[in-house]
Amino acid sequence: MSARIKNLFTLLFILASGLTGHSPLAETVLITGSNQGIGLEFARQYAARGWTVIATHRRETTPDSLAQLAAEFPQVRIERMDVTDAAQIEGLGAKLKGMPIDVLLNNAGMVRTDPLDQPGGNANQLFGTLDYKLLDDFIHTNVAGPLKICETFIENVKASKQKKIVAISSAAGTITMPPFMPNGAPIPDHYWYRISKTALNSAMRLLSAQFKGDGVTVVMFHPGGVKVESFGDLDIPGLESPEAAIGKMIRTIDGLNLKDSGRFLQNDGKDQPW
Ligand SMILES: NC(=O)c1ccc[n+]([C@@H]2O[C@H](COP(=O)([O-])OP(=O)(O)OC[C@H]3O[C@@H](n4cnc5c(N)ncnc54)[C@H](OP(=O)(O)O)[C@@H]3O)[C@@H](O)[C@H]2O)c1
Repeated sequence: MSARIKNLFTLLFILASGLTGHSPLAETVLITGSNQGIGLEFARQYAARGWTVIATHRRETTPDSLAQLAAEFPQVRIERMDVTDAAQIEGLGAKLKGMPIDVLLNNAGMVRTDPLDQPGGNANQLFGTLDYKLLDDFIHTNVAGPLKICETFIENVKASKQKKIVAISSAAGTITMPPFMPNGAPIPDHYWYRISKTALNSAMRLLSAQFKGDGVTVVMFHPGGVKVESFGDLDIPGLESPEAAIGKMIRTIDGLNLKDSGRFLQNDGKDQPW
């Protein structure tokens, strides 16, 4: 390529970036619940590799974690989106109309209402003291939210190069194996969480069938046991650091193609039992 043509391309690139605030060559990821835990680490690692990151959160004011990330990486764009709020989802959809989204990452999730180590906590998800109203919150957050986000941003995904939809599910949604601890003790806890992640998997399988013809790859992950801030000081054996677990998931996402659509994966790309 002659130097003159190269310069012309560079000029066009700079002009396009300046007009849209978005590099036309870099890939884009939209992440829900990106202000802490797994979502924040995804935002950090995608930003560090030069992607445009639409980092969404549900807080009334911009979380410090994201403000710091955006100060470090100018291509991080912070947006408010509660995944249970249809108006906020549609509002962001309208704002991002026409912007290709290579990876739509449904990460935000509701796991429990009380800290894991609170004595007597989370009885609202134990048989005998189940809080049936709480099931609505779980379904809205973990199932209807991701579906509504997929409905809203599907054209952005289709318009992208990679065309990938990822849902962070959980081994808690696995129903082909009993929910036992490694020592064989039954753990019939977190009823609503487990049920909602099984339902999320069903929703994503439907999507994978619906959009395979459009070249869209849809997968679910069990991210592994990942030591996030919300676990507090609990010493749970076998947890991975967010850096390691998310690094593996990003490498797995990089390598996905349409043949993988509909799979339920572990962070290293192996199959997670349904
Ligand atoms: N960590 C693990 O070992 C593990 C294992 C299996 C699956 N997962 C899954 O991984 C995902 C991330 O969890 P995590 O471990 O990183 O937990 P986390 O640290 O508690 O983060 C959850 C994130 O979701 C956000 N969120 C919750 N409800 C929301 C809503 N209605 N709208 C928008 N954002 C909302 C939270 O926002 P706020 O900060 O405002 O609450 C937070 O940013 C979840 O789907 C979880 O089920 C985690």
